[in-house]
Amino acid sequence: MSDIKRVGVLGGGLMGSGIAQVSAASGYTTTVREVSDELCARSRAAIAKSFDKAIEKGKATATDKDAALSRLAFTTSLADLASADIVIEAVVEDLGVKSEMFRELDELCGAETIFASNTSSLTIAEIAAATGRADRFVGMHFFNPVPVMKLVEVVRAIKTSETTVERALAFVASLGKEPIRARDNSGFVVNLLLVPYMIDAIRALESGVASIQDIDKGMMLGAGYPMGPFTLLDFVGLDTTYKIAEIMYDEYREQRYAPPPLLKRMVIAGMYGKKSGLGFYDYSKNPPVPNDIGV
Ligand code: 3HC
Repeated sequence: MSDIKRVGVLGGGLMGSGIAQVSAASGYTTTVREVSDELCARSRAAIAKSFDKAIEKGKATATDKDAALSRLAFTTSLADLASADIVIEAVVEDLGVKSEMFRELDELCGAETIFASNTSSLTIAEIAAATGRADRFVGMHFFNPVPVMKLVEVVRAIKTSETTVERALAFVASLGKEPIRARDNSGFVVNLLLVPYMIDAIRALESGVASIQDIDKGMMLGAGYPMGPFTLLDFVGLDTTYKIAEIMYDEYREQRYAPPPLLKRMVIAGMYGKKSGLGFYDYSKNPPVPNDIGV
C-alpha cells in the first residue's frame, strides 16, 4: 500500500502531463507546476485530450475523466508543491535547471516527502546532491506515452535508502504500472539498450543499407517491434534522443552511444520529429511520408 496522498509534478510537457494524468486517474490529488499560465493551460488541454482518447478506446469513462480533472491543479508557484508527499520532476534534461528546482523545494517540503526525477540519462546522485535529502531521492523513469506504457524504472542512487525505494515501488504499483529496479547508471535498463539500437538505425541509413521505410518495416515485421526505429525516433523526439545519446556518450566514452552526424544535423535544422512536424517522416502528409534528407 502506498502511503502517498498528494503528488507534485514539475513540468507539464509530454512526460509531466502524462505522469499527472496517471496520478490523478489513480486517485491522487495532483498539482502540476509549469513556468507560465499558458503552459499550465496547454498541459491541462493535453491531459483532457488524452482522456478523450482513452474514452474513445474504452479505457476510461467520462466520469473517470471528470473525477481525475477535479483532482488536478496547475500552478506557476513551487510553493504550491509544499504539501506534496512525492514530487516527480519531468523538466528539460538540464542538470542546472533540475538542481535549482529541487534546491528550492528542499526548503519548502516536509521531511518525509520523496523527491523523484524522471530523467532518462542524467545521474540521479548528481541531481540529489542539490538537496539535503539524498536518502529520500529516487529515479522514477516513465515511458512515452505514459498513460499506455506499463513500465516505470525505479532507480536507487548511491545514497537512496531502501525505505525510499520501497515507498517508490509501492507508489508506482498504485498507478497501475509495473516497476523494475535499476541502478543509477546513465540510461538505466531501457535506454542503455534502446538508444544504441535507435542510433544504429541512423548509422544503417547513413551507410545506405536500406531506406527509412524498409528499415522500419524490417524491424516491425521481422522483429515484432510495434514501431520501426525511425517512427520511434520521431515519436521520442530527435532533440531528446540527441541529448540522451550525448549524456550517455559522456558517461561511458563508448562509440556506440555517440550521436551520429545525421542526427546532429537534423536537430540543428529543427527537425525534431513528430512534435515539430518533420523528422525522418514528414507529418504534414497523411499518412506521413519519408522526409527527403538526401541519404
Ligand atoms: N489512455 C489510456 N490508454 C490508451 C490511450 C490513452 N490516452 N491511448 C491508447 N490507449 C490504449 C489503447 O486502448 C490500447 O490498449 P489495448 O492494447 O489494451 O487495446 C493501447 O493503448 C494501444 O493503443 P492504440 O491501439 O491506439 O495504439 P497502437 O496500437 O498504435 O500503439 C503505441 C501505440 C502504444 C505508442 C505503440 O506504437 C508502441 O508501443 N510504440 C512504442 C513506444 C515506445 O517504445 N515507447 C518508449 C519510448 S522510449 C521512452 O519513452 C524513454 C525516454 O527516456 C526516451
